[in-house]
Parts: sequence; C-alpha cells; structure tokens
Amino acid sequence: MVERVVLAYSGGLDTSVGIGWIAEATGAEVIACAVDVGQDGEDLDVIRERALACGAVEAEVADAREEFADDYCLPALKANAMYMDRYPLVSALSRPVIVKHLVAAAKKHNATIVAHGCTGKGNDQVRFEVGIQNLAPDLKCLAPVRDLALTRDKAIEYAEKHDLPIDVNKKSPYSIDQNVWGKAVETGFLEDIWNSPIEDLYTYSQDPTINRPVDEVVISFNQGKPVAIDGKPVTMLEAIQIMNARAGAQGVGRIDIVEDRLVGIKSREVYEAPGAMALIIAHQELMNVTVERDLARFTRQSEQRWGELVYDGLWFSPLRRALSTFFDEVNSVVTGDIRMSLNGGRAWVTGRKSPESLYDFDMATYDTGDTFDQSLAKGFVDIWGLPSKIAARRDLR
Ligand code: ARG
Repeated sequence: MVERVVLAYSGGLDTSVGIGWIAEATGAEVIACAVDVGQDGEDLDVIRERALACGAVEAEVADAREEFADDYCLPALKANAMYMDRYPLVSALSRPVIVKHLVAAAKKHNATIVAHGCTGKGNDQVRFEVGIQNLAPDLKCLAPVRDLALTRDKAIEYAEKHDLPIDVNKKSPYSIDQNVWGKAVETGFLEDIWNSPIEDLYTYSQDPTINRPVDEVVISFNQGKPVAIDGKPVTMLEAIQIMNARAGAQGVGRIDIVEDRLVGIKSREVYEAPGAMALIIAHQELMNVTVERDLARFTRQSEQRWGELVYDGLWFSPLRRALSTFFDEVNSVVTGDIRMSLNGGRAWVTGRKSPESLYDFDMATYDTGDTFDQSLAKGFVDIWGLPSKIAARRDLR
C-alpha cells in the first residue's frame, strides 16, 4: 500500500510545491489540509482547488475559527498571555489547533506521516511536531523545506517547470502568519533591526499617529470571557473580530520586538493584534478589581510561565493544561464591565463595574465615612518592618 502524507497546506508557494516535492521524494500520496483560523486571506475553496491542481490526491478544508477562538484564544486571554511581556502569542496559539485537525485528517485518510512547511530555524516546527507527537505518537513528521531541501529558489523553479497555479511573483518578501488573534511579519528589510517598519506591513491596524476622535467601548466579561460589547451579546470569535476592527481603526496593538526564539536565535518580529491587546488590557484591569491580592500576585508569575510554555510548543503538556485549570479557577470571579477608550495607538481603561468587586469605596475613601481604622496601621507597620529593621541594625554595626 502506498504511504499517505497529510500536509499542512496554506495555499502559498512552499506548501504548493511541497505537494509534488514530497510525492517525488517519498513516493507517498499527499493529502492537503488547510485550516481556517480566521486568517481572512484567500477563499478556502480556491485553496482547495489549488491543492488538487498541485497534485494532492485529496484536499481537506477545516473551519476552525470558533474552536480557535473558544479553546485557544480564550485560555490565552484568561492567562493575559504575552511572551516577553509584549507578544500575545498569535502564531504560537494557532499551531495546536492546526495540529488537531492535521491529526484528525491523518486518521481519516490512514496517513502515517504529517508534513508542514516550516524551516529548521523557527519555533513553528517545534510546535507542529511536538503537538503531533503528543496527540498521535505513531505519526511521523516531515518538513520538506527543512528535511528535503526545498529552498525558495528551487520552489520557484519547480512551480514554473510544472506550471503550478501559483503566481510566484506574488510571493511577498516577508514571512507572514496571521489568524483572528493577530498577524506576524518577519524577514525582508526587517532583518536589519535598525530599519523602521513601513506602513505597508500593517493590515489589521491603521496608522496610530493620525488624528481621529476617541472611540469608547464597554466590554462585559463573564468569568473571564468577553460576552458583550456595548451591551450587545457576542461570541468569543465576534468579540475578537469586533475589537480587531475598532481597536485596529485606532492603531492599537502594533508591536515591534526582538524576540528570543526557542531555538536560541534572536529575531525581529513585527506584530499587530489590536483585538487581542484591547481585550487583554480590559481583562487585566477587571482582574485587578476582582482577584484577591495574593492570588493576583501569584497569577502574574503563572501568566508568564503559561506564555513561555505555549511559545515553546508545549500546548499539550501537563503543566500548560494544569495552569489553564488554575486560570479557569482564578477567572471564576472575573465578571463585570470595563469601559475603555481607544485612540492614538492606545487602549486605556476609564471605568470598571463588577458584582464580584473587591474594591470597597468606604475602605478606600479619604472623605468622611471612611471605615478603615487608621490607628491599627501603626502597630502593623512596626511589626511588618521588624525583620528588616533588626537586620539593618546589625549591618550598621
Ligand atoms: N516569531 C513568532 C512566533 O514564533 C511568529 C512566527 C510566525 N511565523 C511565520 N511563519 N511568519 O510565534
């Protein structure tokens, strides 16, 4: 029986050529699998037809948008997940859901190999392969660009020679990955880290320096999940889409960072994630209002760890899953409304309201009606500072 390979197919040059390239190198039949995670590019039927025209024996298209929003973006929001405090894990979050669909397609078509178009220098190869090994240890992995020496020049030559239905001139000088949670752009002139990003790179957000009126929005959360915008009920996917449009129109969520890849390289990345950033800022502030101090402090460390695990391709690991259970528990009180302003590339909170609020006006006020007994503070301060006071006295000697 001929071996079968499921290829993670994007419709671009590398994976289109990859179909024939893999077939020739391995003698296997290739099944192309495209997963819609809200990348909003070409029509998926067009992508499907292209895969078949490039020699795939079958082509699968999966609409994973709701699933991606509910099962991947929402856990990230509950964890306020930002790698290196800045990057909301756009690409890193999409890999595990794509892996799920690749593994399902492999089962369905009796494939023994799963292939992807990643290079050997990035994080995504790790995320795909560790994910595949975690979900289906029997499947083998293949990366034609990395393992079968499919370079860009060879890909163009191959596409022209075989008259494949791809416009090789349309290939952008950048490596772009996008989904509903955001967009990542790398390579090209950005590899000189002194070069400023140009306006052309951005498609999710408008130029933040342009003057425009402030947009004010109220986001309602239920247990950490955005459930309404300006009072109108939304799904998680809609919440991201609406906030992409509204925060994007105000230039929110542009990120330019030199980032530590898992493979040890530092790389320059330009991201835009207007919806993700606005939602995270709102969610963080609602946590400030509703989560008890020690839990909040502890949570912040775990948020960082969660982000690193997901960045490092360990979505399916026991620690990532256990931490998500912890964040579900933390988020059980993260219910209420956040009012925020969007303008000039910033999203900032201007009001909060919550049935779970720990903010006690009578405790906090400096006006009359204060219920906080200030006389208790004096003894507290003395005893709180005692250990370091004793140590300081010794050090003075
Ligand atoms: N550096 C980012 C990450 O590892 C983005 C990778 C984007 N992938 C791409 N093919 N452009 O998550």
